Amino acid sequence: MTILDFLRENNICLDAACNGLGSCGKCKIKIGNLKAFEGERKVLGDKDIAAGYRLACMHSVDECDKGTILKDIKESTGSVVLVDGFMPRVSHTNICDKYGIAIDIGTTTVAMELIDLSNAAIIAKASDINSQIAFGFDVMSRIAYTMENVDGLFKLQKSIVHTLNMLIDKCLNGNKYMTLTLATHSPYIINHLNLLLKAFDKGVKIENAALDYHKTEVYVVEHGMVKSIKVQNAHLINTDYLSDDINEIYNEYDKLDEIQ
Ligand code: FES
Repeated sequence: MTILDFLRENNICLDAACNGLGSCGKCKIKIGNLKAFEGERKVLGDKDIAAGYRLACMHSVDECDKGTILKDIKESTGSVVLVDGFMPRVSHTNICDKYGIAIDIGTTTVAMELIDLSNAAIIAKASDINSQIAFGFDVMSRIAYTMENVDGLFKLQKSIVHTLNMLIDKCLNGNKYMTLTLATHSPYIINHLNLLLKAFDKGVKIENAALDYHKTEVYVVEHGMVKSIKVQNAHLINTDYLSDDINEIYNEYDKLDEIQ
């Protein structure tokens, strides 16, 4: 694993325009006392090499202590993005007295505003580098990454979710309780909600989130009627409603498996 991969895994965003090919010179780091390769000397130049800069994509994470990497990198990077510019005007009458979040996901930066929907007032702003930049500077490099790595799409999705969660945290300024309403037909989402309910009961968090069973309501619409699918004694959501299709597919699969 390269230092670049290790930083990606730790959600530390480093510009990697050539996606680790060692040609763009963007993933410049200054960590420990790494021996310079001839290839990176060509890309970085003698001056940068003498100043201790190296390419994160050219060095194995095993070349130095992981704790040192995380410490040094945090001290040597840091970027500021300004939230400014055009805010689309939407009619806000009769929406509700709740808050909304407007997000501009750019290839390089992500900007977010927390808005009071009753009067369209901007309550808070936050922005940061889109951490997907660690998988390529432009969209084409990121697409290439997803095509070349089996788990590439998952990593890119995880990466943008990390940036969004971080910005939401910044906008909420430590006030972590919020009301969220969502409609889904995805069994994955329902099962993930169960994970968050379990986390809350165990007093832990998953990716900085947990769900209080008593403050969560989950319904299905069945034959035109709304019905709660919370399972009181288990403190969980009944996933059968959304898992049936998947179960049917598994049943078909099992039947095929039985054919000699
Ligand atoms: S040189 Fe481009 S990502 Fe390392």
